[in-house]
Amino acid sequence: MPLLTAARAVRENAHAPYSRFKVGAALLGADGRIHVGCNVENVAYPEGTCAEAGAIAAMVAAGCREIREVAVIADSPDPVPPCGGCRQKLAEFAAPGVPVTLATTGGASRVVTVAELLPGAFAPAHMGD
Ligand code: THU
Repeated sequence: MPLLTAARAVRENAHAPYSRFKVGAALLGADGRIHVGCNVENVAYPEGTCAEAGAIAAMVAAGCREIREVAVIADSPDPVPPCGGCRQKLAEFAAPGVPVTLATTGGASRVVTVAELLPGAFAPAHMGD
């Protein structure tokens, strides 16, 4: 799976000296390109950013605003789901049915949808938009 291969590769670039938990994320954009990100931690811990957030920033910076597919990988016993904040960030640019592959470096994986990750998501409709 090219998306997972890209996530696995960018994970190597993660800056995670504090948690030592490297994460890689890759998004397939509606532009047909793969956009990648890794977690970037900071000595001021709350300033760190997640892999998914980095990939979304790269996608938007490249001029794309629609996610068609997501892959996230980490060296964890079980496929690690995105944190709450990243679920909301993904929902901003991905339709509810977009598949999210969660994987471990050991080869385990599972696929969920954006809606499964964030049921009842706060959306523009809730502001009357
Ligand atoms: N992390 C991610 O980058 N994505 C996730 O889905 C889960 C957590 C990062 C944040 C932090 O750098 C490290 O993993 C430990 O929480």
